[in-house]
Amino acid sequence: MFETERLRLRELRQSDLSLVLEMFNNYEFQENGGVDYTVPRGDNFIEGWAGWAKSCLFFAIIEEKESSKFLGFIALKISVTKNRDAEFTIGIIASEWGQGFGTEASRWLIGYGFRGLNLHRISLTVAATNDRAVAVYRKVGFVEEGRKRAAMWSQGKWVDHIMMGILEKEFLLA
Ligand SMILES: CC(C)(COP(=O)(O)OP(=O)(O)OC[C@H]1O[C@@H](n2cnc3c(N)ncnc32)[C@H](O)[C@@H]1OP(=O)(O)O)[C@@H](O)C(=O)NCCC(=O)NCCS
Repeated sequence: MFETERLRLRELRQSDLSLVLEMFNNYEFQENGGVDYTVPRGDNFIEGWAGWAKSCLFFAIIEEKESSKFLGFIALKISVTKNRDAEFTIGIIASEWGQGFGTEASRWLIGYGFRGLNLHRISLTVAATNDRAVAVYRKVGFVEEGRKRAAMWSQGKWVDHIMMGILEKEFLLA
């Protein structure tokens, strides 16, 4: 439905669910994504995840335009409608990291979030050790707004959560 230079952002289909499960059944993906315990995930997980996807204001599967290869997903979820503040989430399959896909999809969705969906702010929480995600978020305009100290147990130690956000007025000025 939506396209960027290399990507197509389209609706979730039943046939995507096995690919999504495969994406989550990767140690680094789960550990960085910080869902909960990093454990093998099966049918219960994917059912819950599909329910979450349905509850989002915006949800899209990311695929490569040329090959239609599944690359991941991207979403915005609103909890309190009045505030027009959406929580941003993205996941790219580990084998495709580092090719700029995360940046390309994020940049597009931030633009659409403000111009198309009339959001006031876009927010997210990321583990301080998730260098790749933090790099993407800073690149597309998110700024650090605060830290929740020792919020997440990861690989034998407590890790901070970084709260980041981007405001409509900052985006429109940029
Ligand atoms: C976060 C994620 C979406 C990024 O996707 P991606 O397609 O790999 O991102 P890009 O290729 O666009 O950009 C990665 C950037 O991280 C940088 N990077 C990679 N490893 C890094 C490291 N160890 N330290 C700092 N920066 C790093 C790259 O240099 C690149 O920036 P550049 O283009 O300026 O060089 C992807 O890694 C992912 O799905 N991770 C698992 C799930 C997750 O963490 N989701 C976010 C939860 S908050």
